[in-house]
Amino acid sequence: MKIQIISLFPEMISPVLETSMLWKAQEKGIVEYRYINLRDFGIGPRKTVDDTPYGGGDGMLLKPEPLFAAVEYAKSQDPDALVYLMTPRGERFIQRRAVDIAGEAKGMIFVCGRYEGYDERIISLVDRQISIGDFVLTGGELAAMTVVDAVVRLLPGVLGGAQSAEIESFSHGDNLEFPQYTRPETFRDMAVPEVLLSGNHAEIERWRQAQSRAQHNKYKS
Ligand code: ADE
Repeated sequence: MKIQIISLFPEMISPVLETSMLWKAQEKGIVEYRYINLRDFGIGPRKTVDDTPYGGGDGMLLKPEPLFAAVEYAKSQDPDALVYLMTPRGERFIQRRAVDIAGEAKGMIFVCGRYEGYDERIISLVDRQISIGDFVLTGGELAAMTVVDAVVRLLPGVLGGAQSAEIESFSHGDNLEFPQYTRPETFRDMAVPEVLLSGNHAEIERWRQAQSRAQHNKYKS
């Protein structure tokens, strides 16, 4: 899967995608990351990418010409890829969407906004607008990295055998993490729950499901 990210700050993104599992996914040939610097498509000798808004208002907007040129370039590299615009206005990103996107296995082109926004006409090239939550970031880069991370870890071969079970239980909507423990058995007077030491697998499974539900009720409802 080709993952192309259009940004004014590609140097912000590459260290994240080139670390740990995301990097290993590329090493294994499962994904290929490409960073596209919007500045390279800027206009004139100063490579201008922004301008003031019609109608007045504070701040600068990303101009349409560099955005269109960058997206069209990315499309030329992967014609079937879908174009994702990262924006707080978009559809809320949830695990279900990550599973869908991983299942589609189509290339992804991310457009990361900056400054006060972008010329609205970019929407004509966009397949999906995605928000990672009801808050406003200074740009779309952190949001794009979040989506890449959530999707790539679900691709076959990235995490090993574990993720297919995870997809299954998430599709039932209740796999929020249960608490886990490792050695030592007691640390600073905090003991590992007795049930986990019992060796009774059915009992442990029941406990984990109850804990997951409890976490869900506490934080998600
Ligand atoms: N760009 C700025 N804020 C964002 C958000 N919450 N989600 C996605 N993209 C964004």
